[in-house]
Formats: sequence, C-alpha cells, structure tokens
Amino acid sequence: MTRKVILDVDTGSDDAVAIMLAALHPEIDLVAVCTVKGNQPLANTTENTKRVLDLLKSDVPLYKGCDRPFVREVCPWRIAFEDRATIVDEEGKEHFIHEDFVMLPKSNRKEEEMPAPLFYVDYLSKAKEKVSVVMVGPLTNLAVALAINPDIINNIEELVIMGGADDEANATSSAEFNFFNDPESAQKVFQSGIKKITLCPLDVTHKTMVTKDDCRRFEEINTPAALFASKMCEKRIEVHTQRQPLTLPDSCALHDPLCIAYLIDPSVLTDVRYLHLDISLEGLTDGATIIDHRYFQDNRNVHIAYDGDRKKFVDIMCEAFKLNN
Ligand code: BDR
Ligand code: CA
Repeated sequence: MTRKVILDVDTGSDDAVAIMLAALHPEIDLVAVCTVKGNQPLANTTENTKRVLDLLKSDVPLYKGCDRPFVREVCPWRIAFEDRATIVDEEGKEHFIHEDFVMLPKSNRKEEEMPAPLFYVDYLSKAKEKVSVVMVGPLTNLAVALAINPDIINNIEELVIMGGADDEANATSSAEFNFFNDPESAQKVFQSGIKKITLCPLDVTHKTMVTKDDCRRFEEINTPAALFASKMCEKRIEVHTQRQPLTLPDSCALHDPLCIAYLIDPSVLTDVRYLHLDISLEGLTDGATIIDHRYFQDNRNVHIAYDGDRKKFVDIMCEAFKLNN
C-alpha cells in the first residue's frame, strides 16, 4: 500500500539516504521535505537537502524550517553539544560523520515560501487524506506547528521518529543527538496525543547496520543514488569503526532511512514494544529518554523498536536505488 509521507530532515549523511529512499521507493508518495537545524546549521541542512533532491531530479516541494530549538538555547546553564564526531587520519586530516556540505554540486533550487511549521499547520488542517510524518532530526518544526494548532494531530496517520535511546547514547552519556538538541520539542510531540508514534532509537539503528559488503552491493547497482549512498556509508564506517564500533566489523549505523524502510515494510522492525516515554529536560540527563517498562502502566504513548532485520533493510534500499536513473 502506497503511503503519503512528509519527511523532516537535518541533512546530514544518513538523512541524505532517507531522502533518496523516500523519493525513489514506489510505496512512498513523498508529499514534501522539511528541513531543520541539527547535524548542521539550517542553511547547510537546507542546501544539503536541495543537493540530494537535485541528484534525484525530484520536484518534491522543500520547506525550510526552524533554525534553532524551541527553548534550549535560551537556557545558558544547559550542557552544550560540541562533539562533531570527528576522526583524524594518518595524514592528520579531520573527517566528520556529517561534513558541512554533502559532496554533490551546489544547488540553485528554491525552497517554498512558507516556513516548515506553517506548512504542517496548513497541509494537515486541510488534508482530505491522512498522511504519515517521518522525522529524522530534532522535532522542532512539528512542535512549533502543534503549538499553533494542536488539532493537526487528527490528520497524522502515523508519526515515525528516529531519536532517543534506551540502552545506548551518542550526544552525551545519556542522550541521543536528535532529542538532546531540542528536548522540549520532543517532549511536546510525545505528549501531543498523536494516534500512533513509532520510534526507531539507537537501540535498533545500532543493530541494523550497513557493512562494507553492502556498500559493494550499492556500487554494483551503479545508479547515482546507489553510488552516493555507498560513499556516505564508507565515510560513516570509517568514523564508526574508530568512535563507536558496532557488533559487526566494518559497519556503521545508518539511522534515518530505517524509518522509511519501516513504512515500506513494517517487518523490518522485529522487536517493537508499546511503552510510555518521557524526555528528561535538565541536568546530566538533559534530552535522555525515560522509558517506563512497568507492566501495569496504562499511559503508553509510543511503539519503540529494539531490534530489526538488517538484511531486509539493505534489500529495501537496493530496490529503491535500482529505480534511480
Ligand atoms: C541521529 O543524529 C543525527 O546525527 C543522525 O542524522 C540521526 O538522525 C542519530 O543519533
Ligand atoms: Ca538526522
């Protein structure tokens, strides 16, 4: 079944692959792409998103969103995020998991005039058909939209989020990057009453890794999207291997496209638990997910994936990349 999707990104190397998967796979009808500050400042995440859409020759509308978190930056006492996930090679050259700009030609594409939060309000309050929303960066755009019109939740079929972690962390010792960068927005979204929220936290994305052999598969497909995905993954593998090795050698997490793969084939997530989740808003655990595993709790608000089928995930990406020309 084809699903209408709005994709919200902070491109970003893995976001780039999520955009390609969403734009190319026939089971996704990509309505719009929204950008937000996250892996890079908003100007960069927007330019990077345009470059990826250019590569795909896609005419999907692009809405530029929030250039700062909801309130985090007005609280100077909070811990700052300074780690750009860098490694230094033998020649002393620095490599980042997300470079300032993705290695694609500069774009001349224009974004739509409406800012992303207003696009959500406008589109979702008028939509005749429900739409799924996939958010793979900080949740600021949707939180702002919900502050303007909380009723838009009625037209969201399902919200799929990459963010948070139960038994893992990356931004700080307790928090995942997307939620750490705008904890209040995350909390607002989880408390919004959206009918179905599915979360792909680090717990699953660290198990559905992409390996060097998968990069060879992408290369054999030999379309622009497949070759670009392979390059992105190679770089991510270098950085992951030094900074956060996973259980398979020569592999990396490719967080964001997993959310799209789930909408294409839900069985890509294999251990999904319906639980209650809150976000910590202060101190050493700022931005961390507080997940209630108690059997008797009755205010469950999110379906959290703990495991997935990494081979299926790679197959789904291959299917989509083959369709690029
Ligand atoms: C998330 O943080 C970003 O760096 C990635 O794009 C992904 O969305 C993983 O923690
Ligand atoms: Ca991202």
